[in-house]
Amino acid sequence: MKTSHRAALARAAAGLLLAAPILAHAQDAQIERKVAALLKQMTLAEKVGQLHQLSGRQFTGPTSSNYADKLADIRAGRVGSMLNVKGVADTREIQALALQSRLKIPLLFGLDVIHGYQTVFPVPLGESASWDMDAIRLSAHIAAQEAAASGIHWTFAPMVDVSRDPRWGRVMEGAGEDTYLGSQIAKARVLGFQGEKLGGTDAVMATAKHFAAYGAAIAGRDYNAVDMSNQQLFQVYLPPFKAALDAGAATFMNSFNTLNGVPATGNAFLQRDILKGSWGFKGFVVSDWGSIREMVPHGYAADLSDAAVKAITAGSDMDMEGYAYSAHLEQAVKAGKVKMKLVDDAVGRILYKKFELGLFDDPYKFSDASREKAVLGDASHRAAALDVAQKSMVLLKNGVPGAAATPLPLSRDLKRIAVIGPLADSQRDLEGGWVVQGDRAPVASLLEGLRSHAGKGTEVVHAQACAPGCATLDASALNAAVTAAAQSDVIVLAIGETWDMSGEAKSRTDITLPGQQEKLFAALKATGKPLVVVMLAGRPLVFNTIADQADAIVYAWFPGTEGGNAVANVLFGDYNPSGKLPITFPRSVGQIPLSYAQYNTGRPVTDEHNVVYKSAYIDSVNTPRYAFGRGLSYTSFTYSDLRLDHSELRGDGKATLSVDLANSGAREGDEVVQLYLRDMVASVVRPLKELKGFQKVHLKPGEHRRVQFIIDRDMLSFYNSQLKWGAEPGEFKLMVGSASDDIRLETDLRLLDASKPGHP
Ligand code: BGC
Repeated sequence: MKTSHRAALARAAAGLLLAAPILAHAQDAQIERKVAALLKQMTLAEKVGQLHQLSGRQFTGPTSSNYADKLADIRAGRVGSMLNVKGVADTREIQALALQSRLKIPLLFGLDVIHGYQTVFPVPLGESASWDMDAIRLSAHIAAQEAAASGIHWTFAPMVDVSRDPRWGRVMEGAGEDTYLGSQIAKARVLGFQGEKLGGTDAVMATAKHFAAYGAAIAGRDYNAVDMSNQQLFQVYLPPFKAALDAGAATFMNSFNTLNGVPATGNAFLQRDILKGSWGFKGFVVSDWGSIREMVPHGYAADLSDAAVKAITAGSDMDMEGYAYSAHLEQAVKAGKVKMKLVDDAVGRILYKKFELGLFDDPYKFSDASREKAVLGDASHRAAALDVAQKSMVLLKNGVPGAAATPLPLSRDLKRIAVIGPLADSQRDLEGGWVVQGDRAPVASLLEGLRSHAGKGTEVVHAQACAPGCATLDASALNAAVTAAAQSDVIVLAIGETWDMSGEAKSRTDITLPGQQEKLFAALKATGKPLVVVMLAGRPLVFNTIADQADAIVYAWFPGTEGGNAVANVLFGDYNPSGKLPITFPRSVGQIPLSYAQYNTGRPVTDEHNVVYKSAYIDSVNTPRYAFGRGLSYTSFTYSDLRLDHSELRGDGKATLSVDLANSGAREGDEVVQLYLRDMVASVVRPLKELKGFQKVHLKPGEHRRVQFIIDRDMLSFYNSQLKWGAEPGEFKLMVGSASDDIRLETDLRLLDASKPGHP
């Protein structure tokens, strides 16, 4: 069944590449005519209605009078879209109200389908650790299929915000710290959500969010201001948005933060100049929840009316739960503060998508009860969730490097395994935040997963020791855990964050393990039994003692519906771990923000024992605990014979870099071969390393393969101080390795001529 999904995705990709341009053109003009005709019939109030998005009862309460008002507004044609209404029954009921309005313009139903709908996939950061674009695309596609079968037209995903600050709880929702990896993942997710073409009942509109730079909130505090150079913005933070747009993202969401003093929601530079200007975006921009209204407390708008004027002028098309457009836009147009053509442009963009989705032909197209039942019950979705959950797990430690025996994988001949810890038997914590479908598919806990996968003769005993979060550690519960551990051959300890500690508004100043979990670890360590730690979290945590003392560590993130089985497959070796960190794990909060793509400085540390007057700390080394790109396997890989076919480039020339990768261990497995580059001297200093390519390669023991990367001018380019994109002549170092701090081979390349400065 998995294969048929893959085939469908392959068709989708081919369709996008080949058929789309010709067909799209004919359809464009037709839809545009329909939009123009409809706009002519609309009153100003009806136009403003299309820009107004309201939340369903989930966030207002079914009995709230406010909710009754909302329903009345829908009937009167004063609402263009709803969020947080889902399921065939509810979406039909609400759509029927919109069809009572004068022009019968159907509603758009949007929802935060962030990592699955009914089938819950790993949180996006976890999934990103798979570095597997097919698996990521498939997971988005399944989420879209399930959501689209439940009346949803539109997901507020993917979040493509680069973030280098694990204090920020929303790192969980993104692809991590890297621009290149983030751009590949943005593309995969958009293609997955939007399927072959918008309008298909297996596709939803994607939203590239949060435009822009939300992931760089000062001090990692959610909603905080962002202050950064335009160069950093263009070089690091914008490319994943551009990748989402190039993949066809139907909508963008702006963000809560200010960027260099201007709220993103009221930011014409971002929305008009870049997005709708130089990038030519034809879809529409939705505000973030109430972000238009929030321009008042920001100190950017005097009142709600001023906020409405500033937001529409800056290019925010739809007002999500901000009530600024609904209350003030009509008046602002009448008073000449906002030109009608701005309103028409915003409404036109939204109507266009409604036509494209086919809602004018059949407003209930996505609300078919029999399809809902069939799609939500599709067993292949669980198989895909298991596959990507396994691929997302990162093996951070497995015994002592070089030792003959490793603690993992676990033998099926063990007599007794003690499964211990606050998260060992939790179902909810496997799923993480943003689980939108209340009526969930059953989830196997980690304990259940281990029980069903253990050898026939193995007894699996369990002691929870403390509740999720481990706020208190009761002496008798601790004793019971230690006793169970002492009588077992191996301990599997499940610790980490609870599901609600990462995500929106979940910033933390201290990202060590919450509560008494380190104490629990120490007590179990004292038994002398082999201790395998499985860590659940939505962000990198700091756990130095455990990193030093645990025998093995599997970072499982929040792995979703199939998380318990996925962990069991990894621990017993039925799946050989292949995940690589998409974000740096610091040693301490004091090192944050920390990324592998840092600058050298004029005083780099060359000797860790001599750091006086160097760019260093007096109380810590500079290096992270686990670097970007890290992740072990049960087998080993050897890199050899790096070849560059041209050591000089000029004009449109390309060079081929190739390396031989061999599986030198005893199990089959996957390696992510990573290509990094450094521009040695440039008019603007370039980072020590930047990821420019990667390939995930599956090899049997003894097998080897030549892995190739094409080096072109674009790969060598960057934004100069004038924000012009181009490459400068000179030396480049090309590095190939297994992690950003595990470069196996390197070579040099010389670029002979400069690019004509321009845009990518
Ligand atoms: C979040 C968005 C989300 C929206 C709707 C906001 O608080 O920032 O990412 O899509 O709520 O739920």
